[in-house]
Amino acid sequence: MIRDNEKLMAEIGRIAEVAGYLWTRGWAERNGGNISVNITDLMSEEEKELPAICEPYPLLAAMTGLCGHIFYVTGTGKRMRYVAQDPLGNGSIIRIAPDGASFEIIAEQEIPPTSELPSHLMMHNYLRSSGRDNKVVLHTHPTDLIGLTHCKPFLNSETITRLLWSMIPECRIIVPKGIGIVPYEIPGTLALALATIRQLEKHDVVFWEKHGILAVGEDLVECFDTIDTLSKSAQIFFSARMAGYEPEGM
Ligand code: 13P
Ligand code: ZN
Repeated sequence: MIRDNEKLMAEIGRIAEVAGYLWTRGWAERNGGNISVNITDLMSEEEKELPAICEPYPLLAAMTGLCGHIFYVTGTGKRMRYVAQDPLGNGSIIRIAPDGASFEIIAEQEIPPTSELPSHLMMHNYLRSSGRDNKVVLHTHPTDLIGLTHCKPFLNSETITRLLWSMIPECRIIVPKGIGIVPYEIPGTLALALATIRQLEKHDVVFWEKHGILAVGEDLVECFDTIDTLSKSAQIFFSARMAGYEPEGM
């Protein structure tokens, strides 16, 4: 039934497109990375009421800003290269309960969502509650950007932002709010989710130390492009260093 919804399927097609970019970029080893998109506005009233196909899953914290909202989320353990081929076979459509304390899977198969769902939902919840029209959270593992987070002096929002802004002129325009830093936390935990939303007060892109990157926004392709631009800056920095000189910067 949901496959008859053209607008929804177009968005699912964009998710598949971006999942393919993550794989071909080399940012998605094994099951690395995850995607969530708020698709509530794309669903008809009838589709919003689809019956659950499983028992409710409790959430670690109530998402009171997301009651009744519907998301596409990639499945835990699923490979981006397969999300690209079959997004509905490697992710599911979930609906947050009316009290925000749990969610149900409503389509198409019972594929348990990403282990980073606490961070994703908390980010969606925080941004909606603060009036930002956020639809997308994209988490991925770009080699060059993660490499930077292994160097203590770069684990500072101002330092890393200045460095990456200064490698190419577009970077400052594409990432105007700079980069937030979250010191290492265990993946999938509430602690990681809470530390991440604190960074969203000032930034749309957050680096997780020694783990990966998150970008939030209204559009998934834009989120990908933001991370791609940062990755380009990091590559210029590293290639200058590898050639034996300090890049002059903008
Ligand atoms: P999932 O397979 O649970 O989405 O985990 C991948 C990941 O990148 C964890 O941070
Ligand atoms: Zn990760």
